[in-house]
Amino acid sequence: MASGLHRARTRTGDPMRADRPDEMMKLGAFFHPTGNHVAAWLHPEAQIDAGTNFKHYVNLAQTAERGKFDLMFLADALAVRDGKLAALSRWPQYMVYFDPATLLSAIAAVTEHIGLVATATTSYNEPYNIARKFASLDHISGGRAGWNVVTSSNLSEAYNFGREAHFEHDERYDRAVEFTEIVRGLWDSWDDDAFVRDRATGRYFDPAKLHVLNHKGKHFSVRGPLNVARPPQGHPVIFQAGSSEVGRELAARTAEGVFTPQHALTGAQEFYRDLKGRMAKYGRPPEALKIMPGLNAIVARTAREADEKHRYLQSLIHPDVGLELLSNALGGFDLSEYDIDGPLPDIPDHWGMVTGQTSLRNVVGWAREEGLTIRQLYERFAGARGQRTLKGSPVEVADDMEKWFLGYGVDGFLVQPAYLPGGLDDFVDLVIPELQSRGLFRSDYEGATLRDHLGLERPSSRYAAATA
Ligand SMILES: Cc1cc2nc3c(=O)[nH]c(=O)nc-3n(C[C@H](O)[C@H](O)[C@H](O)COP(=O)(O)O)c2cc1C
Repeated sequence: MASGLHRARTRTGDPMRADRPDEMMKLGAFFHPTGNHVAAWLHPEAQIDAGTNFKHYVNLAQTAERGKFDLMFLADALAVRDGKLAALSRWPQYMVYFDPATLLSAIAAVTEHIGLVATATTSYNEPYNIARKFASLDHISGGRAGWNVVTSSNLSEAYNFGREAHFEHDERYDRAVEFTEIVRGLWDSWDDDAFVRDRATGRYFDPAKLHVLNHKGKHFSVRGPLNVARPPQGHPVIFQAGSSEVGRELAARTAEGVFTPQHALTGAQEFYRDLKGRMAKYGRPPEALKIMPGLNAIVARTAREADEKHRYLQSLIHPDVGLELLSNALGGFDLSEYDIDGPLPDIPDHWGMVTGQTSLRNVVGWAREEGLTIRQLYERFAGARGQRTLKGSPVEVADDMEKWFLGYGVDGFLVQPAYLPGGLDDFVDLVIPELQSRGLFRSDYEGATLRDHLGLERPSSRYAAATA
């Protein structure tokens, strides 16, 4: 029995830990440039030019690695955000920032262990480019790459890729299924031992170990093979963040990690059961997928200090920005004509649903159930960008995380510090040691690859499986 486990049991006197005795919580760090909070850049301790400051990301990656995080994650969209310029000019998040796969390739050179996960959309990329990009990152990083598969929900991206409209929601996912299959096929282009590089015989690779995909499908035609050797992890780890019906199916079918906004333990448990329950029909065991809901942790030495930190950040939200973010979450519904201290007006059913946004349901639900005004609602939403905020002392934050983990609501969390770098420093210095002392989180890396950290198997090649 692990000593941490023993400590956890004696500390809480709770035999629940026995349910997940050998399992460690998985932790990802999600870095929005200046931080997760919509007003993060106004915080005097935030890196003000974060989006295009490489040293900032080096510092974040190295801090997260000091905290033994499984992975760092960078989101992406292929467009500047659209909206009212008055609001956008006060809200720099994702206006200018680096291409994440390029950035992670550079981060790979200054880190040794941490997993490197980036978003890439299946709507405005070609499978060959993505297969090549993430295979390259996996080689460069020694097996630490992960791809977050998104279908894009942002219309502005369409305008940059020769389209007047975005693909319709279900069609996006139909493309994503085919896209992901092709990428995985391309990663298998070369057997692991294809490159014999034998000067004595003059043979560089074994021709029998090269495979041509020859894919001709509904959305894509890709001959292959890929011009990168099979990645060290076999396949870089695939993540997904959709929460709609088709999004969950894609995750059950292909994802090995899932990011999701969850606000209450019961909802998280339902999501957990639902998603893992869908995997059997694809021949996958539930442990082949790790569910990591977003967590906007605001931690300080005492609960009071954490409260003050949060209040201060909330006070920095400009109403134009709050309304803009809320309007985005409501599928574009314009709230500027309504009394900011009055109730949320009725939002017609088709708003947001046309793009399939799940955020709409959450936001309208909060407003109705808790009788929130528009200002209260945007403060709730803008503060954490739709993710759960958890504030408190290190013990309070760890207690809550432990409850969700042991209660099978999660396999881990995607920690989204409110402002950067300070919010990450706080988490690493205050919460990580608390989790480690309870035997809930690793004290050091045990493996070399992201798959090792997450406890995921290395996939064998589809061709090896066919001839076995
Ligand atoms: C933690 C998290 C990260 C996400 N990152 C991105 C991203 O980088 N780019 C993007 O276009 N969408 C991103 N999304 C949106 C999802 O891919 C998805 O579109 C959204 O959750 C709605 O679900 P649905 O597509 O199943 O309707 C993210 C969602 C979550 C919860």
